[in-house]
Amino acid sequence: MHTDILPTIPDTGSGLARGLLFSRNATLAATLTEELRLVLRIVLVTDSYQELLRAAHETDILALFIHMTPENARQDMDCIVQLRRTHPGIHIHMILDRKDPDLLLEGLRLGVRDCIVPAAGEATPFLQAVQRSLNREEETGCDGFVYGCYSLKGGQGVTTLSVNLADRIHQVTGGRVLLADLNLFMGDVRTMLPPATEFSPFDLIRDIARMDENLLFSSLVHHPCGVHVLPSAAEVSDAEQVHRDQIASMIRLLKRYFTHIVIDLPHDLSERTLTAMESADRILVLVEPGLLSVKSTQKVLNFFRELNYSEEKIALVLNRCHSKGALHPEDVEMVLKQPLFATVANDWSALEQAYGKGEPVAAMHPRRRITRDLHSLAERLTAMTENRPQRGFRTWLHGLFSRS
Ligand SMILES: Nc1ncnc2c1ncn2[C@@H]1O[C@H](COP(=O)(O)OP(=O)(O)OP(=O)(O)O)[C@@H](O)[C@H]1O
Ligand SMILES: [Mg+2]
Repeated sequence: MHTDILPTIPDTGSGLARGLLFSRNATLAATLTEELRLVLRIVLVTDSYQELLRAAHETDILALFIHMTPENARQDMDCIVQLRRTHPGIHIHMILDRKDPDLLLEGLRLGVRDCIVPAAGEATPFLQAVQRSLNREEETGCDGFVYGCYSLKGGQGVTTLSVNLADRIHQVTGGRVLLADLNLFMGDVRTMLPPATEFSPFDLIRDIARMDENLLFSSLVHHPCGVHVLPSAAEVSDAEQVHRDQIASMIRLLKRYFTHIVIDLPHDLSERTLTAMESADRILVLVEPGLLSVKSTQKVLNFFRELNYSEEKIALVLNRCHSKGALHPEDVEMVLKQPLFATVANDWSALEQAYGKGEPVAAMHPRRRITRDLHSLAERLTAMTENRPQRGFRTWLHGLFSRS
């Protein structure tokens, strides 16, 4: 069904936030669209899963309503799983014709915002659901996922991975992705994705008390690839003046506004770095297939075990895989006694060209092996977000509600 009461995407004319509705019921579609008319523009009503997923990917969507029917519940749930994986920032609302505790529980477990069972006499069930979900978000923010990229030894490809992983996560999820450089003495993100800003973690920390959404987003760089960037300072700086509590506060703040944060971590084990690691949902430990790299990684993994980091927290990534004369992936796994989470191909020339243009490698070489490896890594990492609690974007819509 593609009702003609509604325009097709994209629609920016009204300036309202956008929503999608999956339903086979034209009456419900008309009621919901009318009820939300002042706060949310339903840009597509469809009963095709494919069309729904495509629209979620192509358009900036705040909320999505899935009208479930018992006979299609399985496929409806599969669609929710897919959407939660690829678009964790979208508020998903289930609509049921009658109360069904099993479906309700399963939906909440998958991360839907709530379950609406429109009852006779209830004036605005859909509007109330949107309002509830935004109020909840007001309290918690996005609560984004944090990925720290790390190696104790320098030159293993940590900055390369951080830059390109951020780009791929944005591509896979369509979320608000931040790439942050915590190499406070001097970092390379600024060179790899050239930003037109002097704003750095030092400024963010200094102004943290007055940092709101507007100030933050006007200070960060929004790179054409879609990723927001917080580079380290342009000149060599005194990282020692930064306390670990300031790093923790900074990451807490950023998690409110971004669905995914990728951190380029310095090659040390300072209190600042360990604090950032504590905040991370995952630490991607980079290793190259050479003896010195494997040795230093072994020490790091042992240290993480002493810190009682869970196995799930650590994702071992073999960079420059299959380069000439290198150790085989199986040998690296055997020595490190840890399975590889991912491998990234060796492709120096593709990376050099990308650095030269100030772009992620996917922009110049979308089909190269290295790009496919990085894309799979982003897919695998973000697929693990399914069972985390609800999250989403703060938008100007909060303001609309709080004013009303
Ligand atoms: N997969 C790869 N294939 C080929 N070359 C790579 C790969 N990954 C990184 N490199 C190269 O290795 C060098 C170091 O990479 P990068 O700067 O990302 O590492 P780093 O760990 O951040 O180093 P630093 O110690 O400077 O922080 C760069 O020249 C980069 O192009
Ligand atoms: Mg680096």
